[in-house]
Amino acid sequence: MTMKNKQSLFLSKKELLKEAGCDDYNESAKRLFSKAFGISSAQSYKYQTYEGSNENASLFSEMISSRAFGVPTSHIVCSRSFWKNDFHVDKTVLDPRPESELIIDVTKNLLIDGMKVLDLGCGSGCLGLSLYKENSNINLFLADISKKALSLSKKNAEELKADCEFIHSDLFSNIHNNFDLIITNLPYIAKDDFRYLQREIILHEPHEALYGGRSGLDVIKQFLDSVNRHLNKSGFFVIEFGKGQDCLLKEELVRSNFNNVYYYKDLNNVNRVVCVKKDT
Ligand SMILES: C[S@@+](CC[C@H](N)C(=O)[O-])C[C@H]1O[C@@H](n2cnc3c(N)ncnc32)[C@H](O)[C@@H]1O
Repeated sequence: MTMKNKQSLFLSKKELLKEAGCDDYNESAKRLFSKAFGISSAQSYKYQTYEGSNENASLFSEMISSRAFGVPTSHIVCSRSFWKNDFHVDKTVLDPRPESELIIDVTKNLLIDGMKVLDLGCGSGCLGLSLYKENSNINLFLADISKKALSLSKKNAEELKADCEFIHSDLFSNIHNNFDLIITNLPYIAKDDFRYLQREIILHEPHEALYGGRSGLDVIKQFLDSVNRHLNKSGFFVIEFGKGQDCLLKEELVRSNFNNVYYYKDLNNVNRVVCVKKDT
């Protein structure tokens, strides 16, 4: 393919995504182009200078068609960047969201060698494995109610050479250890808010990873009922929650006798993460 052909292919497909109503059409076109032509995303903006075959071009066109039909870019390229690493993702797990990186930001400096850390509702494993990459001397446990999610998190752990244990469990039902730190991003979308989610999310992401019952906090409330029993002395837990759920969550934390509570805001200045010390 000539450089000129490639450039016009890229521009026409980018336009196609824009017309299809794809919000992130520029970023998606770049990521798909990089994948189809086998170049790193850091280089993709220089796409004009790379050789490519007609096969690369056909693959790019197929990927663009899928994206135009609403398939998330990460599902097409089977990967998503989170914190400092790339994670395998597919329709069995939630696509890691940038706002969840706040959990890593809040906890990374608290890690101590030998600390027992649980990522409950691990999905792709992006939270726990990102912490492991910050300090590989922690004892990491990844747990999820979904066997498919656990299997994908195992694949990610292998890829990142992380030594950790996997537990298939509905919240703490199959967890018999205590931990120094528990991190969790459980489902928190309320029943009435579900219909406002983007069509792309409803169609392509697992509902059990999103749906938090009538209030949105139903699963988190169950978590709060048991978490204290699974924390070591001076242990703490960190939860992500939805925009505007902080008042309701505060009430639940008070009800469960948690008094040492610190809230953290995301880049939009909205409370998104809470760090809570064990109730002694
Ligand atoms: C919002 S996703 C978060 C995934 C990943 N930790 C992340 O931040 O991208 C919620 C995860 O919790 C899991 N989950 C939902 N209910 C659960 C339960 N009762 N016990 C354990 N895991 C649960 C889902 O399968 C899903 O993987």
